[in-house]
Amino acid sequence: MRKKIVAGNWKMNKSYAEAIDLINNIINANPNPTVQLIVFPPAIYATELVKLTTSTPIKVGVQNSSQYDAGAYTGEIAASMLKSVGVQYALVGHSERRHYFNEQNSDLALKVNQLLKNEITPIYCCGEILAEREKNNHFNVVKNQISEGLFQLTENEILKCIIAYEPVWAIGTGVTASAAQAQEMHLFIRNSIVQKYGNKIADQISILYGGSCNAKNAKELFSNQDVDGGLIGGASLNATDFIAIANSF
Ligand code: PGA
Repeated sequence: MRKKIVAGNWKMNKSYAEAIDLINNIINANPNPTVQLIVFPPAIYATELVKLTTSTPIKVGVQNSSQYDAGAYTGEIAASMLKSVGVQYALVGHSERRHYFNEQNSDLALKVNQLLKNEITPIYCCGEILAEREKNNHFNVVKNQISEGLFQLTENEILKCIIAYEPVWAIGTGVTASAAQAQEMHLFIRNSIVQKYGNKIADQISILYGGSCNAKNAKELFSNQDVDGGLIGGASLNATDFIAIANSF
Protein backbone atom coordinates (compact mmCIF):
# COMPACT_ATOMS: atom_id res chain seq x y z
CA MET A 1 0.00 0.00 0.00
CA ARG A 2 1.32 3.41 -0.96
CA LYS A 3 1.39 6.17 1.61
CA LYS A 4 -1.52 8.65 1.54
CA ILE A 5 -0.11 12.14 1.83
CA VAL A 6 -1.55 15.64 2.11
CA ALA A 7 1.05 18.39 1.94
CA GLY A 8 0.42 22.09 2.52
CA ASN A 9 2.56 24.57 0.62
CA TRP A 10 2.18 27.85 2.47
CA LYS A 11 4.30 29.69 -0.14
CA MET A 12 5.31 33.24 0.90
CA ASN A 13 2.37 33.75 3.25
CA LYS A 14 1.81 34.26 7.00
CA SER A 15 3.56 36.29 9.66
CA TYR A 16 5.38 34.33 12.37
CA ALA A 17 2.41 34.68 14.75
CA GLU A 18 -0.02 33.56 12.05
CA ALA A 19 2.16 30.58 11.18
CA ILE A 20 2.22 29.44 14.83
CA ASP A 21 -1.53 29.87 15.00
CA LEU A 22 -2.07 27.81 11.87
CA ILE A 23 0.14 24.92 12.99
CA ASN A 24 -1.49 24.87 16.43
CA ASN A 25 -4.94 24.73 14.83
CA ILE A 26 -3.85 21.83 12.62
CA ILE A 27 -2.36 19.97 15.62
CA ASN A 28 -5.44 20.58 17.76
CA ALA A 29 -7.75 19.24 15.05
CA ASN A 30 -6.25 15.77 15.71
CA PRO A 31 -5.83 14.87 12.05
CA ASN A 32 -6.41 11.35 10.74
CA PRO A 33 -3.13 9.52 11.53
CA THR A 34 -3.44 7.20 8.50
CA VAL A 35 -2.74 10.17 6.23
CA GLN A 36 0.75 11.70 6.37
CA LEU A 37 0.34 15.46 6.79
CA ILE A 38 3.29 17.65 5.90
CA VAL A 39 3.44 21.44 6.11
CA PHE A 40 5.80 23.58 4.07
CA PRO A 41 6.08 26.96 5.84
CA PRO A 42 8.49 29.72 4.81
CA ALA A 43 11.91 28.33 5.82
CA ILE A 44 12.46 30.90 8.56
CA TYR A 45 9.61 29.34 10.58
CA ALA A 46 10.67 25.72 10.04
CA THR A 47 12.79 25.31 13.20
CA GLU A 48 9.97 26.41 15.47
CA LEU A 49 7.39 24.32 13.63
CA VAL A 50 9.58 21.24 13.94
CA LYS A 51 9.61 21.78 17.72
CA LEU A 52 5.86 22.29 17.91
CA THR A 53 5.09 19.16 15.87
CA THR A 54 7.66 16.84 17.48
CA SER A 55 5.20 14.66 19.37
CA THR A 56 2.52 14.82 16.66
CA PRO A 57 2.17 12.86 13.40
CA ILE A 58 2.65 16.10 11.41
CA LYS A 59 5.94 16.59 9.55
CA VAL A 60 7.67 19.79 8.45
CA GLY A 61 9.27 20.54 5.11
CA VAL A 62 10.66 23.52 3.25
CA GLN A 63 9.78 24.94 -0.14
CA ASN A 64 13.30 25.07 -1.56
CA SER A 65 16.88 24.09 -0.75
CA SER A 66 20.31 24.55 -2.27
CA GLN A 67 21.92 22.32 -4.86
CA TYR A 68 25.29 23.05 -3.22
CA ASP A 69 26.92 21.49 -0.17
CA ALA A 70 28.05 24.58 1.77
CA GLY A 71 30.12 27.72 1.35
CA ALA A 72 29.91 31.00 -0.54
CA TYR A 73 26.32 30.84 -1.87
CA THR A 74 24.69 33.96 -0.43
CA GLY A 75 21.06 33.54 0.48
CA GLU A 76 20.95 29.78 0.09
CA ILE A 77 20.09 27.10 2.65
CA ALA A 78 21.92 23.77 2.48
CA ALA A 79 20.16 20.43 2.90
CA SER A 80 22.57 19.62 5.75
CA MET A 81 21.34 22.74 7.60
CA LEU A 82 17.73 21.71 7.11
CA LYS A 83 18.54 18.27 8.45
CA SER A 84 20.26 19.80 11.48
CA VAL A 85 17.03 21.52 12.56
CA GLY A 86 14.84 18.46 11.96
CA VAL A 87 13.30 19.28 8.57
CA GLN A 88 12.28 15.98 6.94
CA TYR A 89 10.84 17.00 3.54
CA ALA A 90 11.56 19.55 0.81
CA LEU A 91 9.73 20.63 -2.33
CA VAL A 92 11.91 20.54 -5.43
CA GLY A 93 11.11 22.34 -8.65
CA HIS A 94 7.76 23.84 -7.77
CA SER A 95 6.44 25.59 -10.88
CA GLU A 96 6.89 29.00 -9.25
CA ARG A 97 10.57 28.20 -8.72
CA ARG A 98 10.88 26.96 -12.29
CA HIS A 99 9.15 29.99 -13.78
CA TYR A 100 10.08 32.97 -11.56
CA PHE A 101 13.55 31.74 -10.56
CA ASN A 102 14.45 29.93 -13.74
CA GLU A 103 15.22 26.60 -12.09
CA GLN A 104 16.19 23.99 -14.66
CA ASN A 105 15.81 20.22 -14.45
CA SER A 106 19.60 19.90 -14.16
CA ASP A 107 19.61 22.15 -11.04
CA LEU A 108 16.75 20.15 -9.61
CA ALA A 109 18.60 16.86 -10.07
CA LEU A 110 21.41 18.31 -7.93
CA LYS A 111 18.93 19.46 -5.28
CA VAL A 112 17.35 15.99 -5.13
CA ASN A 113 20.83 14.46 -4.72
CA GLN A 114 21.70 16.86 -1.88
CA LEU A 115 18.44 16.16 -0.07
CA LEU A 116 18.80 12.39 -0.27
CA LYS A 117 22.38 12.63 0.93
CA ASN A 118 20.98 14.36 4.01
CA GLU A 119 18.05 11.95 4.47
CA ILE A 120 15.42 14.53 3.55
CA THR A 121 12.54 13.35 1.38
CA PRO A 122 12.20 15.34 -1.85
CA ILE A 123 8.75 16.06 -3.24
CA TYR A 124 9.66 16.55 -6.88
CA CYS A 125 7.17 18.79 -8.71
CA CYS A 126 6.34 18.52 -12.38
CA GLY A 127 3.62 19.82 -14.66
CA GLU A 128 2.92 21.50 -17.97
CA ILE A 129 1.79 25.02 -18.81
CA LEU A 130 -1.49 25.53 -20.67
CA ALA A 131 0.12 26.12 -24.08
CA GLU A 132 1.95 22.80 -23.78
CA ARG A 133 -1.29 20.94 -23.05
CA GLU A 134 -3.05 22.72 -25.91
CA LYS A 135 -0.31 21.53 -28.26
CA ASN A 136 -0.73 18.03 -26.84
CA ASN A 137 2.85 18.19 -25.62
CA HIS A 138 2.07 17.76 -21.90
CA PHE A 139 3.20 14.13 -21.67
CA ASN A 140 6.58 14.95 -23.26
CA VAL A 141 7.11 17.91 -20.95
CA VAL A 142 6.39 15.92 -17.80
CA LYS A 143 8.45 12.97 -19.02
CA ASN A 144 11.44 15.30 -19.53
CA GLN A 145 10.99 16.91 -16.14
CA ILE A 146 11.03 13.59 -14.31
CA SER A 147 13.73 11.99 -16.48
CA GLU A 148 16.13 14.90 -16.12
CA GLY A 149 15.42 15.65 -12.45
CA LEU A 150 14.87 12.20 -10.95
CA PHE A 151 15.99 9.36 -13.20
CA GLN A 152 19.66 9.86 -12.27
CA LEU A 153 18.74 8.09 -9.01
CA THR A 154 19.34 4.46 -8.13
CA GLU A 155 16.41 2.18 -7.29
CA ASN A 156 16.96 2.65 -3.57
CA GLU A 157 17.12 6.42 -3.96
CA ILE A 158 14.00 6.87 -6.08
CA LEU A 159 12.06 4.84 -3.53
CA LYS A 160 12.75 7.66 -1.07
CA CYS A 161 11.11 10.29 -3.32
CA ILE A 162 7.57 11.58 -3.72
CA ILE A 163 6.33 13.13 -6.97
CA ALA A 164 3.76 15.92 -7.27
CA TYR A 165 1.99 16.49 -10.57
CA GLU A 166 0.84 20.10 -10.72
CA PRO A 167 -0.47 21.37 -14.05
CA VAL A 168 0.63 25.00 -14.03
CA TRP A 169 -2.69 26.17 -15.46
CA ALA A 170 -4.42 24.78 -12.36
CA ILE A 171 -2.16 26.39 -9.73
CA GLY A 172 -3.87 29.21 -7.88
CA THR A 173 -6.39 29.66 -10.69
CA GLY A 174 -9.44 27.90 -9.26
CA VAL A 175 -9.38 25.65 -12.35
CA THR A 176 -8.65 22.08 -11.28
CA ALA A 177 -7.63 19.26 -13.57
CA SER A 178 -10.58 16.90 -13.91
CA ALA A 179 -10.28 13.63 -12.04
CA ALA A 180 -9.78 11.92 -15.42
CA GLN A 181 -7.00 14.34 -16.49
CA ALA A 182 -5.23 13.86 -13.15
CA GLN A 183 -5.49 10.05 -13.29
CA GLU A 184 -4.31 9.99 -16.93
CA MET A 185 -1.13 11.93 -16.10
CA HIS A 186 -0.48 10.10 -12.83
CA LEU A 187 -0.71 6.77 -14.66
CA PHE A 188 1.63 8.13 -17.35
CA ILE A 189 4.14 9.14 -14.66
CA ARG A 190 3.86 5.75 -12.96
CA ASN A 191 4.34 3.97 -16.29
CA SER A 192 7.43 6.09 -16.97
CA ILE A 193 8.80 4.89 -13.63
CA VAL A 194 7.92 1.31 -14.60
CA GLN A 195 9.92 1.67 -17.83
CA LYS A 196 12.96 2.93 -15.98
CA TYR A 197 12.84 1.03 -12.67
CA GLY A 198 10.22 -1.71 -13.07
CA ASN A 199 6.80 -2.39 -11.59
CA LYS A 200 7.80 -3.17 -8.06
CA ILE A 201 9.41 0.22 -7.54
CA ALA A 202 6.77 2.21 -9.45
CA ASP A 203 4.06 0.68 -7.29
CA GLN A 204 5.59 2.08 -4.13
CA ILE A 205 6.05 5.71 -5.13
CA SER A 206 3.40 8.19 -3.99
CA ILE A 207 2.26 10.64 -6.66
CA LEU A 208 0.37 13.70 -5.38
CA TYR A 209 -1.91 16.02 -7.34
CA GLY A 210 -1.66 19.79 -6.94
CA GLY A 211 -3.48 22.74 -8.47
CA SER A 212 -6.62 24.29 -6.95
CA CYS A 213 -7.27 21.17 -4.90
CA ASN A 214 -9.72 22.01 -2.11
CA ALA A 215 -12.13 20.50 0.40
CA LYS A 216 -14.82 20.23 -2.30
CA ASN A 217 -12.90 18.46 -5.07
CA ALA A 218 -10.32 16.46 -3.06
CA LYS A 219 -12.49 13.38 -2.63
CA GLU A 220 -13.03 12.94 -6.36
CA LEU A 221 -9.35 13.54 -7.17
CA PHE A 222 -8.08 11.22 -4.41
CA SER A 223 -10.43 8.42 -5.44
CA ASN A 224 -8.30 7.79 -8.54
CA GLN A 225 -6.13 4.70 -8.52
CA ASP A 226 -2.85 6.57 -9.08
CA VAL A 227 -3.55 9.73 -7.06
CA ASP A 228 -2.02 9.20 -3.63
CA GLY A 229 -2.86 12.56 -2.12
CA GLY A 230 -2.41 16.26 -2.73
CA LEU A 231 -0.02 19.18 -2.64
CA ILE A 232 -2.25 22.01 -1.50
CA GLY A 233 -1.53 25.74 -1.83
CA GLY A 234 -4.31 28.22 -1.07
CA ALA A 235 -6.53 25.78 0.83
CA SER A 236 -3.66 24.81 3.15
CA LEU A 237 -3.61 28.29 4.68
CA ASN A 238 -6.73 27.50 6.67
CA ALA A 239 -6.64 24.63 9.18
CA THR A 240 -10.30 23.65 8.70
CA ASP A 241 -9.92 23.33 4.93
CA PHE A 242 -6.59 21.55 5.20
CA ILE A 243 -7.98 18.98 7.66
CA ALA A 244 -11.09 18.49 5.50
CA ILE A 245 -8.80 17.68 2.57
CA ALA A 246 -6.88 15.20 4.73
CA ASN A 247 -10.19 13.53 5.55
CA SER A 248 -11.10 13.14 1.86
CA PHE A 249 -9.70 9.67 1.24
P1 PGA B 1 -3.00 25.96 -5.20
O1 PGA B 1 -1.41 25.73 -5.22
O2 PGA B 1 -3.59 24.83 -4.39
O3 PGA B 1 -3.19 27.30 -4.54
O4 PGA B 1 -3.47 25.92 -6.61
C1 PGA B 1 -0.87 24.44 -5.33
C2 PGA B 1 0.64 24.53 -5.34
O5 PGA B 1 1.18 25.49 -5.90
O6 PGA B 1 1.33 23.67 -4.79
